[in-house]
Formats: sequence, C-alpha cells, structure tokens
Amino acid sequence: MDLPAFERPAKAISAAEGGGRSCGRAIDISKWAWRNKDMGKRKEHGAKRVAVYNISIQERHAPEVTMIARFSILLIALTAQSVFAQTAPTPADQARIKLTAESICAACHGADGNSILAVNPSLAGQHPGYLFKQLHDFKSWDGKPAVRDNAVMAGMTAALSEADMRGLAAYFSSQTLKPETAKHRETLALGQKIWRAGDTSKGLASCAGCHGPAGKGIPPLYPSIHGQHAEYIEAQLKAFRVGERKNDPAHAMRDVASRLTDAEIKAVADYTAGLR
Ligand code: HEC
Ligand code: HEC
Repeated sequence: MDLPAFERPAKAISAAEGGGRSCGRAIDISKWAWRNKDMGKRKEHGAKRVAVYNISIQERHAPEVTMIARFSILLIALTAQSVFAQTAPTPADQARIKLTAESICAACHGADGNSILAVNPSLAGQHPGYLFKQLHDFKSWDGKPAVRDNAVMAGMTAALSEADMRGLAAYFSSQTLKPETAKHRETLALGQKIWRAGDTSKGLASCAGCHGPAGKGIPPLYPSIHGQHAEYIEAQLKAFRVGERKNDPAHAMRDVASRLTDAEIKAVADYTAGLR
C-alpha cells in the first residue's frame, strides 16, 4: 500500500493496492493532523496525552463488493422479517421517546448520538432497522434470555415497547455522525488489507463485502461501522469471536471474527474508525 507522507497535501490519492479480492480500487488517505494540540473529546475525559494522528480514510465505491452481501441478505432476510415489521408510534409514544432519548440515553450515547466514551457506541446516523434490532435483542422477551447479552442495555430496554424501540431507533438514526479517526499509522496497511480483501488463505471474507466499501453498511441488516470508536469495534469483534455476542444473523460476524487474530482485530478496528 502506498501511504501518503505527512507532507502530502490533503486529499492526495495513493495508488490502487491491486489484488484486493473484493474492491481493489484507489484509496485516498487524507486529513492527516497531529492530535496533541487538539485532543478533542478524549482530552476532556482525561485520556492519555499522547501524540497520535487523526487519519481519515476515503474508500471508493467498487460494485463487486456487494456480491457477498447480496448472498448473505438472501440467507438472512427470512430470519429478520418479523423483527422489521412496522407499527407506527402514537403521539404519546413519540413524546415519551424524545424524553427518554434526551434524559436517559443521552447520558451514555450523547445528546446528538455521538458518544464521548469509547466503550459506548455512537448511534448517530446508524440505520434505524439495525438500531431497532439491537434494542429488541437487548431485551428479554417472555422470560427468555436476551439475544444480545449486555447488563447495561438489558436494564435500559426492560421497560421499552416495540413502538418505543422503533421511535428511539428513528431518533438516533436521524442524527449526524461525528466520525472518529484512525490513530495508528503503523497498522493501517494491515487494516486496509483485511477491510478490502479479507484473507482467502484462511477463508476470511472482506469487511467491505458486507459493510460496503466505505463502511456505511447496507440497511437494514448490515450496520454502518465507519467512524465508530475503534475500542468499541475491537470489543465487539472479540465478543463475536468467543461467541459472547451471538445475535448476528447466519453467524455472519462470528465466522469472520473467529478467523481474526488480536493484532488483526486491532488493525481493522483502527482502520474502520478512520473510514469515510
Ligand atoms: C449507562 C450507559 C448507557 C445508557 C444510559 C444507554 N446505553 Fe445504549 N449502550 C451502552 C453500552 C455500554 C453499549 C454497548 C453494549 C455492548 O458492548 O454490547 C450500548 C449499546 C447500545 C446499542 C447498540 C449499538 C450498536 O451499534 O450495536 C443501542 C442501539 C443502544 N445502546 C441504544 C440505547 C438507547 C436507545 C438508550 C436509552 C433508552 C441507551 N442505549 C442507554 C450504554 C448505555
Ligand atoms: C458476511 C457478512 C459480513 C462480513 C464479511 C463482515 N460483517 Fe460485520 N456484521 C455483519 C452483520 C450482519 C452484522 C450485524 C449483526 C447484528 O445484527 O447484530 C455485523 C456487525 C458488525 C459489527 C457490530 C457493529 C455494532 O455497531 O455493534 C462490527 C464491529 C462489525 N460487524 C465489523 C466487521 C469487520 C471489521 C469485518 C471484517 C473483518 C466484518 N464486520 C465483516 C456482517 C458481516
């Protein structure tokens, strides 16, 4: 991979990597900047004051990448159908939804859907169908264990109706993501390789194949993951790998994560945080 040098002007375009199985097109890594002056959100929360880079990564569209995704959509569309059935929220629901979002959810996910702490995912701009599915999965229904096991979110969803969940999903989905950035230049090449090409030698599908070249996802099943906190992405990949998180339709993410090493997870998580 041809990484741009620091001196290189913003929006410089590097050569295509080539050989990427799913999307070997040009990549544009731009907006390099030192972070020690402007540590942004993390600084306010006492994060270590180290000099790290803000790296935004521009992936270009390549039509081939949706191939795997289309196949998987066929596989899991049926499973998901019941979950995405619609019922419109009443005005009373809507008022409660806004109050809930602003007074409860905002504490961890940010009033604008952009979370401050990396342990809490940002929700802004996420596809509503995906947000709804997660809220549904966090809650225990009919005394059965929740499909996505998380103590905090189990408490948050316990009193929510499906209409509330749909409303909250719409609320956060309509907000604008303030994307994170990649911070580890030394692992960008590895992250990019996994993102764009996977690793055929160990049956690892490319992330781009399902999450889209720029990580914006394919609604409603494939979430947008670009610009998410790297630490959150890393934690989810590890949870999928050991099967702690098991709400992925057709084992899609458990299959992927089981083929990733710790180092690969870190690299691809950092890369994804910088994707645009
Ligand atoms: C005390 C902190 C806290 C509060 C309050 C909270 N959440 Fe969360 N939320 C979390 C954490 C932590 C996770 C990640 C769980 C995990 O690691 O699996 C999460 C995950 C989620 C996800 C899954 C996102 C994804 O990308 O998969 C959704 C959706 C969500 N929360 C919505 C809400 C809504 C809606 C509310 C308000 C009703 C809320 N949360 C309140 C901490 C919180
Ligand atoms: C075969 C399709 C497929 C491939 C390939 C794939 N994913 Fe996913 N991914 C999914 C699906 C489907 C979900 C949503 C699971 C759910 O509904 O809870 C998901 C969810 C995720 C999540 C959780 C998002 C959140 O907000 O909690 C992360 C992180 C993620 N994928 C990262 C990756 C990375 C990194 C790669 C490449 C190493 C990858 N995925 C490859 C299908 C795929």
